[in-house]
Amino acid sequence: MSDLPTCRVCGGALREFLDLGDQPMGNAFVDPGRPDEEASAFRFRLTVAMCETCTMVQLTDYVRHDRMFHAAYPYRSSQSSVMSAHFENLARRFLADELTGPDPFIVELGSNDGIMLRTIAKAGVRHLGVEPCGDVAEVGRANGIRVVDEFFDENLAAGILATDGRADVVFAANTFSHIDFLDSILRGVENLLAPGGVFVFEDPYFGDIVKRASFDQIYDEHIFFFTARSVQDMAARHGLELVDVELLPVHGGELRCTLARTGARPVSPSVPKLLEQEKEQGLTERATLTRFADGVRELGETLVARLRDLRDQGKRVAGYGATAKSTTLLNYCGIGPDLVSFICDSTPEKQGRLTPGTHIPVRSPDAFADPYPDYALLLAWNHEDEILAKESAFREAGGRWIHYVPDVRVD
Ligand code: SAH
Ligand code: TYD
Ligand code: ZN
Repeated sequence: MSDLPTCRVCGGALREFLDLGDQPMGNAFVDPGRPDEEASAFRFRLTVAMCETCTMVQLTDYVRHDRMFHAAYPYRSSQSSVMSAHFENLARRFLADELTGPDPFIVELGSNDGIMLRTIAKAGVRHLGVEPCGDVAEVGRANGIRVVDEFFDENLAAGILATDGRADVVFAANTFSHIDFLDSILRGVENLLAPGGVFVFEDPYFGDIVKRASFDQIYDEHIFFFTARSVQDMAARHGLELVDVELLPVHGGELRCTLARTGARPVSPSVPKLLEQEKEQGLTERATLTRFADGVRELGETLVARLRDLRDQGKRVAGYGATAKSTTLLNYCGIGPDLVSFICDSTPEKQGRLTPGTHIPVRSPDAFADPYPDYALLLAWNHEDEILAKESAFREAGGRWIHYVPDVRVD
């Protein structure tokens, strides 16, 4: 008998391929006055496995949902203008293509600060955001959306069905992959959807993570890493079918999946095309996963060597973007304030706090130029274009960016 837990989608055996050590929660920013708080001291083992049966990539150990998502959860979606435009465009597409009936209704899981639903609300279309984190749910309300601050599951879905009726669209961005009770979510969605309705979700794509060695996409909240193959299999277990896929450039490469009731919609050619591409990439092969894990170790060693070298030369290095992703990177590599003296981040809820586990101070971006550091480690690498454009004066003043995805590079 294996010690490993079994697959949370199909119950199959798991094959572990990467161990990122003991880690704090990615968004557990530390109050400097209370560093021993329970949430700050909490650690779990961050290991990733693939199911031998359905190929779903998943964490073997995971953190309870209400430990990660609570009133004080600090993530705010609208800090990025690129993401704001991304979700506004998607909302417009839903309005034009899916929400065209006499009294359409859309439900969003993980509506956060209302980044997507505010466009739907402005259009006067019936909607409901489901957002369990109280503070950010309130920001969504202030942005004009209707929100229930609870965790979506099959019971909540039944409640929504009773009060609001069937949904034409259920949407979830960077949320479905964060929930360990996927089966309850899928039962709830299946029950809530109108006969011709769709469940659309977008999450980091495992194909891109492997291609870019972007292992910092792996942290407590990212429990599942989807591929077209694993999603197709999972959907079929719930009477649903994968009818469309799109690869998105945001957040370092995401997969948007559209599920419909089996047989209700034609399957787009994009689905067999991506399945073929995944086969060519060898995404489920042992050798690919071993190569990925070897690449992670190498990347970590190269980055730390570079940072130590800069420290020994007396250079000043700051970080840019106190992402949840960076929690994995910094803790895995053992990068603390001796190597990166502070990190700038535009989120007021993170400023004045310390990074989870590594205790690097988080400051406002105003501190960046005061004075500029010699080097800046781009931790929010998924927002590279936006940040480099905003901070172009740093390069002009002689500053250098340190990138680490897909490999360590200074420019
Ligand atoms: N959709 C936004 C926010 C992603 S962060 C974006 O793409 O930027 C993930 C969000 O999912 C958090 O705000 C968290 O509170 C929410 N969440 C976590 N579990 C949930 C559940 N079971 N039901 C609904 N929302 C959930
Ligand atoms: P993000 O990569 O979206 O998410 P995650 O935490 O899931 O890894 O986080 C981006 C972080 O970078 C967020 O804390 C806001 C910050 N940020 C800035 O400080 N300046 C910017 O211009 C942008 C786009 C983001
Ligand atoms: Zn499985």
